[in-house]
Amino acid sequence: KKVVLAYSGGLDTSVILRWLQDAYNCEVVTFTADLGQGEELEPARKKAEMMGVKEIFIDDLREEFVRDFVFPMFRANALYEGLYLLGTSIARPLISKRQIEIAEQVGADAVAHGATGKGNDQVRFELSYYALKPDIKVIAPWREWDLNSRTKLIDYAEKNQIPIAKDKRGEAPFSVDANLLHISAEGKVLEDPWQEAPDYVYSRTVDPEKAPDQPTYIEVEFEKGDAVAVDGVKMSPAELLTKLNELGGKNGIGRLDLVENRYVGMKSRGIYETPGGTILLAAHRGIEQITLDRGQAHLKDELMPRYAELIYNGYWFSPEREMIQAAIDASQKYVSGTVRLKLYKGNVDVVGRKSPHSLYSAAHVTFEEDTVYDQRDAQGFIKLNALRLRLAKNARG
Ligand code: ARG
Ligand code: SIN
Repeated sequence: KKVVLAYSGGLDTSVILRWLQDAYNCEVVTFTADLGQGEELEPARKKAEMMGVKEIFIDDLREEFVRDFVFPMFRANALYEGLYLLGTSIARPLISKRQIEIAEQVGADAVAHGATGKGNDQVRFELSYYALKPDIKVIAPWREWDLNSRTKLIDYAEKNQIPIAKDKRGEAPFSVDANLLHISAEGKVLEDPWQEAPDYVYSRTVDPEKAPDQPTYIEVEFEKGDAVAVDGVKMSPAELLTKLNELGGKNGIGRLDLVENRYVGMKSRGIYETPGGTILLAAHRGIEQITLDRGQAHLKDELMPRYAELIYNGYWFSPEREMIQAAIDASQKYVSGTVRLKLYKGNVDVVGRKSPHSLYSAAHVTFEEDTVYDQRDAQGFIKLNALRLRLAKNARG
């Protein structure tokens, strides 16, 4: 019996590792992904080796993450509940996919994760596992064991010679999830939604009040809906997002304090920092302004909340997500060109856009004299559109 564990190297998943070896008496294979969380991964290898793990997988998935998950999602301008850029939600299907690949490679019959029984992440991991390998066995220790407090977890770690970082002996300040798209914090000091988050919660962005007094101007170039260059420099997807994170972070862009509806039913309060993603969303909307037809633009805006909810709820690998994705992708054929943005103290503003496929016609829109548009045409246009309004008023008073 073998199980592939999504292993971060932190205290919780280290306890899970040992617990799986004990409670299930099975061989544990660890999988640690580099999604750009900005942590050293070699310590995770050392720890896994120390706990007797023989098969250790450590994969750099940053490019795949941005190219095949983040970028497709940004083509849709996806926001959950109007504000959340889905930084955690979009990473889970990739982790799950790689975990299943490893399970197949090493001949494991089970996979395990460290998400609690109260959250969204368990749903996202497991819907993805089942979608990709219908008969896989799933182990979710948080739903099974009785280590239901920090103290019990730490006692267990001490009894089992699991190294504990000094600051972990006390209460962990809050729960953090990080990758190239965002860093999130939930729990503890953040659990009272009336209390403003303390400054130490933020780690990827400067306080907008302390950001530079001079604006930063940048240009982002798009090809078929995906960003390909910043300030004229071509970059790979992960490089580009890294660059935008740096620019956004310095200017205090992308902070969000949100109370959201979890799929399992309760509300939770989170603090998010998505500096590069916030710039990317603004830039993408900027280029769509001149390259999308109105019908396309409005239809994709109608589909967007549904698409975002699918990703939030864990249905990346679902037929309906793929259907909507196909429609979104088809809309991006002419979404190429350059957007100029102004970054200033937490704000990102589109201040210029141009495209070889621009639908913007100065000849038509000008307030000056023109030769292409006959203003008299508008009279009949309005008259017929008003017909039903007039009939209704006449009939109903
Ligand atoms: N509430 C966010 C979401 O559901 C963030 C979850 C963070 N996950 C974590 N394990 N700390 O997408
Ligand atoms: C968790 O419950 O493990 C984190 C929060 C979430 O998944 O929503």
